[in-house]
Formats: sequence, C-alpha cells, structure tokens
Amino acid sequence: MNKINTAVFPVAGLGTRFLPATKANPKEMLPIVDKPLIQYAVEEAYEAGIRHMVFVTGRNKRSIEDHFDTAYELESELEANGKTAMLELVRSLAPADMDCTYVRQARALGLGHAVLCAEHLTNGEPFAVLLADDLMQGEAGGPNVLKQMVQAYERLGNSVIAVQEVPLDHVKRYGIVAGVADGERLLKVQHIVEKPSPEKAPSRLAVAGRYILSHAVFGHIRKQGKGAGGELQLTDGIAGLLADEAVHAYTYLGKRYDCGSKEGFLEATIELALQHPEVGESFRSYLKSLQL
Ligand code: UTP
Repeated sequence: MNKINTAVFPVAGLGTRFLPATKANPKEMLPIVDKPLIQYAVEEAYEAGIRHMVFVTGRNKRSIEDHFDTAYELESELEANGKTAMLELVRSLAPADMDCTYVRQARALGLGHAVLCAEHLTNGEPFAVLLADDLMQGEAGGPNVLKQMVQAYERLGNSVIAVQEVPLDHVKRYGIVAGVADGERLLKVQHIVEKPSPEKAPSRLAVAGRYILSHAVFGHIRKQGKGAGGELQLTDGIAGLLADEAVHAYTYLGKRYDCGSKEGFLEATIELALQHPEVGESFRSYLKSLQL
C-alpha cells in the first residue's frame, strides 16, 4: 500500500463570506490568535507524516508563499538582536525536510477543480486534501484528525473522508454521506451528495474538510462535470469513485471549527485563546470580567 506523501491545500476560494478581510488576502491567512489558518493545517499534515505540501492558490497567493519561505531579513534581524525564541519560531515554519509546491487555479471553478489542478503533483499516489478553513483539533494528548485518518487508511487501504454529525438544518451547507457501519467510527459509504436540502439528505453525517483520496478520484471529478452552484465539486468526484472502489467515512475524535463562517471563526478564536500558553489565563479573567 502507498504511504501518504502529499497533502493538497486548496486555497484559491474567493472567501466571500469574509469580505472585506479577504479582498486582498486569502481567507486561509486569517489568524486564529497568532497563527494563520493555513499554518494549523500544514502542521497537522506534517505531524501526520506528510512532507510534500501542495498549495492550490488563486490571485492572492503571495502571502501564503512568503509565509512558508525563508524570511532572510527578518531572520538576520532576530539573530542580531539575540531573539532566539522568535528566530526558532520563524524557522520552524519551514522544516528542512518539508517541500512546498504552488500551483495556480486561474479561476475559482470549485473545490473539485482546485483539487484537479494538483493532479500532476501527486505522483499517481493516494493523497490527502485539507481545507484550512476547517480548523481541526484532535483530543487532548491524542493524534490529530489527519493522523487518525492516515491510521484508518493504513488499516483499510482505501479512501477515507472525515465526517461529523450536524443538525438537520445545517445539512445544506455540506457534503452529506450515508452508508453501513464497518468498524469502530467507520462507515462504508454508499451515498454522498453535495449540499442537499434537509428533505433530501440521506443522513446528518457531514463531510469535514479532511480527505485521503485514491488517485482514481481525478478521473471521476473530470467525468462528473459541473455540480451544485455550477462548480466542479469534489463530492461528485467521490460519488463517482464509489462505483469502482470502497470509500470509508471516519467519525474523527476531536473538534472542528468552521472558520469559513464568522461564528466558527469567532468560536475558534475564543477557545484557542483560552488554551494559549501566553495569553490564556489573562484572557480567561478578562472574559469573566465582561458583563454578558
Ligand atoms: P468554500 O466553499 O468555503 O468557498 O471553499 P470560498 O470561496 O473559499 O468561501 P466563500 O463561500 O465565498 O466565503 C472551501 C475550500 O475550497 C477552496 C477554498 O479556498 C476553501 O479552502 N476552493 C474553493 C478553492 O481552492 N477553489 C475554488 O474554486 C473553490
């Protein structure tokens, strides 16, 4: 079985729900406390053992590329001023054994189209997809969500997608799966549909932004054509894959913050600020002092 070597980060969406912040900056560079969303996702992939990161960027790619590149001037300044801890922090962003590749999605034609743009960089192997606007936290002391999925993939040898149960009135925001139980926290997927109405939803199990996909998905994305919202949907590609190969849905251990929405972004900011080693305690006192 192939090891998962490559992670694809589609970061070319327009981020319209976050305008004006996303007018000149990708949504994935918005910070939660002191780290941009994309960095949380890259760290998750690195911890899961992946070393090749592929970013599918759009018109505002510069800041993401700079973020994971050497910042020569900044580093020499920090070094000259003896700011060792900050220097380490800045250098840790681009570990020597991590490779970053950038590919451009010229037009935001949908998540499926963005993933297709990375096809030639995945070596014919299965690969991971991480949507950085879904910020995932594993359980305290446990493996992160992508690592849990890599472990499931190593047991099953086929595609694995992360899912979580959502309220019925939220199903229209997500890809929704249904299938048969097939092991602990696992379901063998029989149906997957993008953004169904509550009446048509086959379940309340929603796809979260983490996937491990067989290379064959590319052919299916191409074959399916435009789907919901007139976009090339990754969900439709996975639906096509189901006819040929097993796909499992994995109910991860941990929590997802939908940082593509304002509410989710604010929830993540507050919860991660409370956990932050530097500001957590004082922020907690501050929150308690508010007359809510
Ligand atoms: P979203 O559905 O959240 O779309 O994309 P969006 O454009 O980023 O945001 P809104 O809805 O306008 O506010 C899910 C993920 O897929 C990427 C986005 O960057 C995000 O990580 N994406 C989406 C692309 O890379 N290209 C696309 O054409 C569409």
